[in-house]
Amino acid sequence: MESKRGEGMIFINCMEKLTMNAPKETLKVRLNAALDAGIDGITLAAGLHLGSLALMEEHPRFRDAKIGIIVSSLRALQLFLRKNARTGRLPDYVVVEGPLAGGHLGFGLDDWNKHDLATINAEILAWLRAEQLDIPIISAGGIFTGSDATRFLEQGSGAVQVATRFTVTDECGLPDEVKQEYFKANEEDIEVNGISPTGYPMRMLRGSPGIGATTRPNCEAYGYILDSNGHCAYIDAYNREVAAHPNEKKVRIYDKTCLCTHMRNFDIWTCGHYAYRLKDTSRQDAEGNFQLLSAEHVFRDYQFSKDGKILLP
Ligand SMILES: Cc1cc2nc3c(=O)[nH]c(=O)nc-3n(C[C@H](O)[C@H](O)[C@H](O)COP(=O)(O)O)c2cc1C
Repeated sequence: MESKRGEGMIFINCMEKLTMNAPKETLKVRLNAALDAGIDGITLAAGLHLGSLALMEEHPRFRDAKIGIIVSSLRALQLFLRKNARTGRLPDYVVVEGPLAGGHLGFGLDDWNKHDLATINAEILAWLRAEQLDIPIISAGGIFTGSDATRFLEQGSGAVQVATRFTVTDECGLPDEVKQEYFKANEEDIEVNGISPTGYPMRMLRGSPGIGATTRPNCEAYGYILDSNGHCAYIDAYNREVAAHPNEKKVRIYDKTCLCTHMRNFDIWTCGHYAYRLKDTSRQDAEGNFQLLSAEHVFRDYQFSKDGKILLP
């Protein structure tokens, strides 16, 4: 780990659902350790974070570091503000994440496609204005081009948050052969399913090796999702299948996945809805492989592209 150089800011993304068999204690240590280490900002993610501000309020940097929250509805934002009101600290920004985002979704498995980011954005902006709360919002989920981004900025967002376009860059940590899977994906290769033991729906490539795997729960090594009773929904699913097939050496589990093991091994290929458009963002060689992009190239394309066009490398 290197210390920060230059003027830029470094933020962490702190997921409430990583509970590690002691939810409150884990969250408290992670939040306060980040502040101790001099982090510029913390985005509170994957969960409602109803008690997270209180866990940091004694820290000397509690009012200096930037703190933001990700929500997928006005209701979730109102709940967060109500439950954290006692700390007398508002979030510095609110990430509004719609149903086309990658990774875990803050919607139901059966109703995510009934929502859209522009509507949620507008509701939150109108409410903040009515309450005279001057908090910038950052829109996220399915913003694939600079023109998409401009539409949200014109609607009143302070910024946009994007991810999927960067999955096929040199700087992305996925193995190169997995990046090719992202490039080659078609719309029918992308699904939202319920296999995450967190209980949130998750979007991923249908070909992710972690779907329908035979993995024994690996909580001794990882255990990130264990709740305060040492429980994870994958353990139940695994034990149920082992009991149902006593004579089989390896049983396949389809309804849940060992997220800790498979995220660690890059076997859950989480992506945004528009991952099937990644093939339009690069060039393919004679063997059918796509040229990886640089993060700078993608960043500049977001900044300068017009009319929904995408700049090829
Ligand atoms: C590969 C991948 C990993 C992600 N991991 C996280 C994560 O760890 N925490 C989180 O809050 N959001 C995560 N997200 C969601 C993004 O932060 C983001 O809000 C969203 O995907 C933006 O939409 P886009 O992917 O359509 O650009 C992830 C998204 C992708 C594509």
